[in-house]
Amino acid sequence: MHRHAPAGVWSAPGRVNLIGEHTDYNDGFVLPFALPFRIAVAARARADGLLSIATVGDDGRPQRAGPVPVDALEPGGVTGWAAYPAGVGWVLRHEGFSSGADLVIAGDVPAGAGLSSSHALQCATALALLGLAGTELDEPGAPGRAEVAAWVQRSENDFVGVPTGLLDQTASLCCVEAHVLFLDVRSGEMEQVPFDTAEAGLDVLVIDTRARHSHGESGYRERRAGCERAAELLGVPALRDIESAGLDDAISRLPDNLRPLVRHVVAENERVRRVVELLRADRIAETGDLLSASHASLRDDYRVSCLELDVAVEAARAAGALGARMTGGGFGGSAIALVPQDERGTIGDKVVAAFAERSLPAPGLFTAVPARGAGRDI
Ligand code: GLA
Repeated sequence: MHRHAPAGVWSAPGRVNLIGEHTDYNDGFVLPFALPFRIAVAARARADGLLSIATVGDDGRPQRAGPVPVDALEPGGVTGWAAYPAGVGWVLRHEGFSSGADLVIAGDVPAGAGLSSSHALQCATALALLGLAGTELDEPGAPGRAEVAAWVQRSENDFVGVPTGLLDQTASLCCVEAHVLFLDVRSGEMEQVPFDTAEAGLDVLVIDTRARHSHGESGYRERRAGCERAAELLGVPALRDIESAGLDDAISRLPDNLRPLVRHVVAENERVRRVVELLRADRIAETGDLLSASHASLRDDYRVSCLELDVAVEAARAAGALGARMTGGGFGGSAIALVPQDERGTIGDKVVAAFAERSLPAPGLFTAVPARGAGRDI
């Protein structure tokens, strides 16, 4: 083997969330599937304990980070895009998998589209570093996928410094082809629910609005803090503990500013469970109204939508989508629409026209079929 050849290549997908938004950090329910777009990490071990990371930036130029000693990685020590893979090196060191490595990153998950390219990168890095340490997922003695997802979350929360929940990492690691993943974040229980849109004559159209609003991260932090405060005032561990039947009573005990947050989270958890019931009964088309209701709630109560997402959702619905909603954290990013397959072309055209009418940059469109989760490729 050539001296510079990688020891292996590991990859992980981006995701869309069918429904269950801003519920993960409230100990609730989510329902994502993996996209057929992936980030791959080619890796080889280094005996000197250094971590070096290389990729090609959006501008087509090579970018490098490090080499830094894995043993010296600490939160705040690496910033920018490299904090994501470096944070994984940091968390794995704490879990006893310390190894120097050369990593080369490439992939096709659209960046900045709210489709979890950064989590795909982190999950692929985790698999690569574990692989170099002689540990392949799913082999006897290896950590479980959910456990790796929790480590990746810790690296994002504590090393990168972003307080996200477990949705994206779990989707990237645990999703399987042709299914959506029903995850109960509190118990960790997972069910792979069949999601065969083609058989139902439907497509999931993903609309990347290409918008990224700068207040996204602060908006996310504020919503999360608001939910935690509401749970505290209500005397429950998390908003997951409020059921629809107890919603009015709970709301009456809260200050005005926290009420809409609680209304969204409680209703959204309920919608996830109803969508899962419909999917189990092979009634995909009937999920459309729940998707649209989720969007309205994220727009009006949770207030994480934006003009571009609302235009995408409204144009898709007006053109014949059975339902549509923003997906992911919001403040830009992507929307999804459940569309009859034979109308996908016209619906897409009308969405593009609606953006043009408002002088918004043209959105990116693609159809998404649930793909496999993270794994070793070579
Ligand atoms: C982002 C976060 C997730 C989740 C979603 C909203 O994608 O990374 O943990 O909170 O927003 O559902």
